[in-house]
Amino acid sequence: MHSTLQPIVILISGGGSNMAAIVRTAQKDAWGERLRAQVVAVVSNKPHAGGLRLARAQGIATEVLEHSAYANREIFDQALAAAIARYDQPQRPCLVVLAGFMRILTPGFVAEHAGRLLNIHPSLLPAFAGLHTHQRALDAGCKFAGATVHQVSAELDAGAILEQSVVPVLAMDTAETLAQRVLATEHQIYPRAIARWLAQRQAQAGESPIR
Ligand code: GRF
Repeated sequence: MHSTLQPIVILISGGGSNMAAIVRTAQKDAWGERLRAQVVAVVSNKPHAGGLRLARAQGIATEVLEHSAYANREIFDQALAAAIARYDQPQRPCLVVLAGFMRILTPGFVAEHAGRLLNIHPSLLPAFAGLHTHQRALDAGCKFAGATVHQVSAELDAGAILEQSVVPVLAMDTAETLAQRVLATEHQIYPRAIARWLAQRQAQAGESPIR
């Protein structure tokens, strides 16, 4: 790896379609050259997460840390932080991207990665933090639903909002059909929010693109 590239580690628990969208965009938009960044690893807390196969097919390093093998949340998060830290570059710790990572992180982990820890949540935050967002939006009679990319803070789904997408709720929608349409928009806004984060980091460091 080029020593000046900003490492990105993506954490998943499932299908990994957001992770795949990020990897695709990174290739298509030449993040290596334009944003001096590279997806270096995909880490899953589930050994059978479909996203692992996708990542391997792209030649990206994968790791599995099964949370059930750890005595408690703190010990799991310490192991997770250590796995991520192996990809840190000198002066350049990893950007950590949660993409369908279904674990609540400890305050210690969040503090250690503050400012470089992003998440996508399938609702228009601050509405519907937590689980079952689409069913809750339908039950509440919402006319619009969507997704939010945000910085991760100690409080669940409550960090600074970076991007949002809006999707109209249709009369015949079920939680599944709504989830599908929202997910398609997640694939647009997550890579865009990450690219913006990387561009800001580059500007702060006074760097220009490699070409
Ligand atoms: C997405 O809807 C994400 O917002 C939520 O879980 C889903 C993950 O999908 N947290 P995928 O694994 O990226 O396909």
